[in-house]
Amino acid sequence: MDVELPILQFEDRPGVLDLGWGHPHPDLLPVTSWREAVQESLEVFGWRALTYGFAAGPGPLVEWLGEHLALTQKERTPASQFFVTNGASHALSLLATLYTRPGDLVMMDAPTYHYALRIFRDHGVTLVQAPVDDEGIDPAALDVLLGRLRQVGERVPLLYLVPTFANPTGKSLAEEHRRLLVEGAHRHGLTVIEDDTYRELAYDAAAPPALWSLDCSGPVVRVGTFSKTVAPGLRLGWINAAPHVVRRLVGLGYVDSGGGVNHSIALAMAVFGSSGRYRSHVERVRDRYAGQRDTLIAELRDAAPLLEFDRPEGGWFVWARLPSAVSTDGLLVSAHECGVSFTPGSVFFADPGNGAHHLRLAFSMLPPDQLAEAARRLGSALDRLTDASGCPADTGRPVRPRRAG
Ligand SMILES: Cc1ncc(COP(=O)(O)O)c(C=O)c1O
Repeated sequence: MDVELPILQFEDRPGVLDLGWGHPHPDLLPVTSWREAVQESLEVFGWRALTYGFAAGPGPLVEWLGEHLALTQKERTPASQFFVTNGASHALSLLATLYTRPGDLVMMDAPTYHYALRIFRDHGVTLVQAPVDDEGIDPAALDVLLGRLRQVGERVPLLYLVPTFANPTGKSLAEEHRRLLVEGAHRHGLTVIEDDTYRELAYDAAAPPALWSLDCSGPVVRVGTFSKTVAPGLRLGWINAAPHVVRRLVGLGYVDSGGGVNHSIALAMAVFGSSGRYRSHVERVRDRYAGQRDTLIAELRDAAPLLEFDRPEGGWFVWARLPSAVSTDGLLVSAHECGVSFTPGSVFFADPGNGAHHLRLAFSMLPPDQLAEAARRLGSALDRLTDASGCPADTGRPVRPRRAG
């Protein structure tokens, strides 16, 4: 019999409600309106949608995106400061190629997006945890650390962070910290990579100003993506950077060889955006994700009162802390026995030994009834560790531990 070859990254584990995956709810992927946009883009652009594209990204996308982003920032970013990518992951890898050489130090927020750690490590750099306080990166302590590292001859070209509705914490860097961080970066000749993946998924109030909008003259490079707002399968995102950086990206051999990255999809996105489909889609998903967040939080407060967490004002994640007597690794085993899973906190830190009492819970992928059930199972798993009351008999089944995506 033929083996069915996989289509998706997601791996279903029967019987397990998995809060580990930072993936969208399938119902929220815009199959119909995207099909219309693709069709319209072929009607409007004809053969031009199917040949090699302009290296920095096709004009219609850059034009619409520039207008769209200007709605939430003081000044409109000119076309010369856009480079279209295959999503944020690709952008991070390109920026690591451009800015680093093996042996460099790269500063990382702590905790931070776990796959960014992997992407930078692929480039042979050493990751250093930036000093943090309750508000996120501590600009004054960072200043001191950068000074010390420079004194001993270290090259520290980059700092990476997700300052708005972060993965995994859901938190946003305070506005004063943003300003000080950008000023410090200027002084130290440090480039700050602002991963702005979750900016549009703001549930309670407008997102804080992007670091990019505080200073687009050089110290900040912003990375954006359509993965969370529209669909990760499109593999479409962008970099905002000073014109000389965009020129270097455009001059990369593989861009010269292949032309604009993901050209056809970029043109379909231009239609999706300029026709108003993007705006109405994002409004819809924002409401749904806000509802999913509220369900998970309400149920966790009820079923797992020992977990401590803040209500995230945007993004896809709840970052929870366990009592110090309970380790995340222990909870993960118990959780699997109760039919629920999550991502352990330790994977989000550059330095080993951190995050042993934290866990990330994604509310993006499961519908409200399953989120509520997952929270109840997590509560039971925690009870088993703390008072041995056991998980509900019909939900418990042992599963193979796995690193969540
Ligand atoms: C902070 C952050 N950056 C980047 C990515 C990856 O984005 P993309 O699908 O555009 O590569 C993710 C996805 O989880 C993310 O959370």
